[in-house]
Amino acid sequence: MYRAPRGTVDILPAEQAYWAFVQSRAADVCRLYGYQRLDTPVFEDYGLFARSDASGTDLVEKEMYVFEDRSGQKLTLRAENTAPVCRAYIEHGMANLPQPVRLYYLGPTFRYERPQAGRYRQHHQFGCEALGDPSATLDVEVIELAIGFLSSLGLCNLSVLLNSIGCRQCQPQYVAILRNHYEAISSEVCDDCRVRMVRNPLRLLDCKEPGCRRFADEAPHISDYLCPDCEAHFGEVQKQLRLLDISFTLNHKLVRGLDYYTRTVFEVLPERQTGQSAIVGGGRYDGLIEQIGGKPTPGVGFATGIERIILNLKEQGIEVPPVDTPTVYIAHLGDAGRHAAVQLSRRLRDMEIGVITSTGGKSLKSQLRQANALGVRHTIILGEDEVSRGEAMLRDMTANVQQTVAQDSLHMHLRA
Ligand code: HAM
Repeated sequence: MYRAPRGTVDILPAEQAYWAFVQSRAADVCRLYGYQRLDTPVFEDYGLFARSDASGTDLVEKEMYVFEDRSGQKLTLRAENTAPVCRAYIEHGMANLPQPVRLYYLGPTFRYERPQAGRYRQHHQFGCEALGDPSATLDVEVIELAIGFLSSLGLCNLSVLLNSIGCRQCQPQYVAILRNHYEAISSEVCDDCRVRMVRNPLRLLDCKEPGCRRFADEAPHISDYLCPDCEAHFGEVQKQLRLLDISFTLNHKLVRGLDYYTRTVFEVLPERQTGQSAIVGGGRYDGLIEQIGGKPTPGVGFATGIERIILNLKEQGIEVPPVDTPTVYIAHLGDAGRHAAVQLSRRLRDMEIGVITSTGGKSLKSQLRQANALGVRHTIILGEDEVSRGEAMLRDMTANVQQTVAQDSLHMHLRA
């Protein structure tokens, strides 16, 4: 028997109310802040993600779905959305638009990870990217937008973690100091950390191995090594967050798993924190557009995993509005009833009244049972006699009463 591939899930009708709720709130909040939707392809050129400077990240080394198409072109299923958005910004000459260009996306993202609660091989991201402006105000705008979005869903008790990882000027100096710190204790760290010391030293700080955590706690703080510009930028971000009453915790170990970040990085964690608990991750990436072939252009943004948001909605017991389904069921008896049902269904739908039409030759009893199970408000019953008089039996399923009405006036009863 076939099953959905490991790490993927079917989003069943019963789940769709959550998805519709989250997606519509995302669109609402983006409208408030002037972010416009951009949809990029689900697959991209392999090189867009596997840039030389991105090697050493788990995403590129272990998690990408890579394949060749029939022409031999090497492609990757979208492993994150920031690089594709930047690619589209360059490709469509968005540098000529008023800056910053504010964009958002919603869609599936693929990572070959070890599946567990809240971690999938296909997940869906909602994210925002603001391109073409280096100011701290924009960092704060995207953090505020992310928080506003989560609050609009009713999620509470969220914490914001904040850090600055400096720029191409000051970060290398800090990385050298961090390496020195770890060289002295290299025999005590885990195997992965020994590799990180060579390939991706910043990631030493967020090693999850219990034995390594102490070394990260004791490591020098990058905030003590920022250049004056990065320090001023970070100070301004914090100042504006305070102006907006957005509480945050500075965390010198927050470095993020992707290679492209500069200056501000942040995550939002929910109330109950587990290993995979960040619901939002983001930051500034002032070098990325240049790395993928554009003119030097700053950018800042975040992404959030819709599955993780829904897990948290459920954990916090938040109810979501139900998806609209038809409130009318049409039952029928005999050939004349069936034919009248087909025509009446069409007439009601033309009037924007949703209808579920009974099919097959079921008994009236079993049709009514089905109507009950579907939870409709009204059932219309078309028997041979009613049809011959242009009438129908209208049954109110909650009150359990029925009356005979002219088919032509049904819509008024149904809308009442
Ligand atoms: P990320 O932290 O890799 O950042 O992913 C963003 C969010 O996507 C996470 O906080 C989490 O909610 C969700 N997520 C990631 N991986 C999975 C997974 N395997 N299963 C379920 N949910 C997952 C980025 O992708 C950056 N592009 C964010 C960004 C935008 N930075 C700047 N702009």
